[in-house]
Amino acid sequence: MTATATPALQAVLTDLLDLGLVIKQAHWNVTGPAFRSVHLHLDEVYDEVINWQDEIAERISALGDSPDGRAASLSGSTIAQLPTGPLQAAAVVQGFAERLAALSASISVKFGVLEEDLPSQDVLIGIVAGLDKQAWFFRAEI
Ligand SMILES: [Fe+2]
Repeated sequence: MTATATPALQAVLTDLLDLGLVIKQAHWNVTGPAFRSVHLHLDEVYDEVINWQDEIAERISALGDSPDGRAASLSGSTIAQLPTGPLQAAAVVQGFAERLAALSASISVKFGVLEEDLPSQDVLIGIVAGLDKQAWFFRAEI
């Protein structure tokens, strides 16, 4: 039987896996006067996102369920996609401030579902705190 927390955790895992791909796409395609700082900042966020992916996936495993990290399953992601081609740094900064704030808000909505599973709730709370901090870092660059 699937643990109560698993669907919420899996939804966040899917978004974080996709967010990692979107971050690298921007990291590789960013251009403009702020190239270097944005390029480096994106890798800082990527490292955090990779850790969060692992924490969530292993929480799902610890609950006795199976995390789904297959590329084909990322179609369920709610992360806003990027266009192909070069990306202006200012638009990247604005876009990531918005993406991270939106993901923080959508994860926060799940706290209530996890009131019977505080360790899972704690994992999501930690991720939301990290997303809020990184959203602020991007906002501060605008
Ligand atoms: Fe790189």
